[in-house]
Amino acid sequence: MTDTPIRFDDGAAYERMMGIWSAKAGEIFLDWLALQKNLSWADIGCGNGAFTEQIVRHNAPSRVEGIDPSEGQIAYAKTRAATGMAHFRIGDAMALPYDKDSFDAAVMALVIFFVPEPARGVAEMARVVRPGGTVAAYAWDMNGGGFPLEVILKELRATGLSPIWPPSADASRREEMMRLWTDAGFENVETRRIDVTRTYLDVDDFWNAAPGSASLKAALAKMDPAQIAELKARVRVHLHEEADGRVTVSAFANAVKGRVRT
Ligand SMILES: C[S@@+](CC[C@H](N)C(=O)[O-])C[C@H]1O[C@@H](n2cnc3c(N)ncnc32)[C@H](O)[C@@H]1O
Repeated sequence: MTDTPIRFDDGAAYERMMGIWSAKAGEIFLDWLALQKNLSWADIGCGNGAFTEQIVRHNAPSRVEGIDPSEGQIAYAKTRAATGMAHFRIGDAMALPYDKDSFDAAVMALVIFFVPEPARGVAEMARVVRPGGTVAAYAWDMNGGGFPLEVILKELRATGLSPIWPPSADASRREEMMRLWTDAGFENVETRRIDVTRTYLDVDDFWNAAPGSASLKAALAKMDPAQIAELKARVRVHLHEEADGRVTVSAFANAVKGRVRT
């Protein structure tokens, strides 16, 4: 693994690769949170607004603030039809530009493993959510092999190449989520696993979307065309192609939620 930073600079490419995955897992996550309508939400690491849009559709919030360090992602988020009522800005999970007790809920969807100091990010969410409010997160189980493009990462490793790894991948483990939330002092802490599948038109459809993953884009950029072709051939072996060419890929994430002490 290398310590090259993973950069999200292309909201449209992210949408092709992760938007659909994010929507599928995000829906299960929001159902599990079971929060009522008309609440104020902070969407930390909102990216290109894929999950923000789901909050709007699923929970009819009174207010949503999305924050992300990536200008490219924020620019895309602002173009989404359903996010018209949301407000987006550039910022960092570890230093939220909001006052204490500003929100009813704060969430990190597919973000906690990118935050250099997860405990600081969790403490910031606890600070900006009112007593009795909800702080929650979900993330692909990176160490457990839950990332949607795990089959590519695995083959990269097998060929001796190092995928770029999120700096805080450990925070995507269910036990670590429980520890972070318990240490932060939340009440009623619960965790769960989220399983999702996605069907691609064919192997090319799966493969061509992959560079939308910032970590894979960085890894592929360091390879020559022959290496990339070999990697694709190795990946193809693991994908079960239906008679019409379609391939279905599985992924799983872990989620955590807790209530700010009253
Ligand atoms: C995988 S995307 C998730 C986007 C969106 N929440 C979703 O569910 O589709 C991860 C996002 O985390 C953002 N991110 C990385 N480091 C961050 C930090 N320190 N604070 C806030 N967001 C961060 C990235 O810019 C990126 O947009």
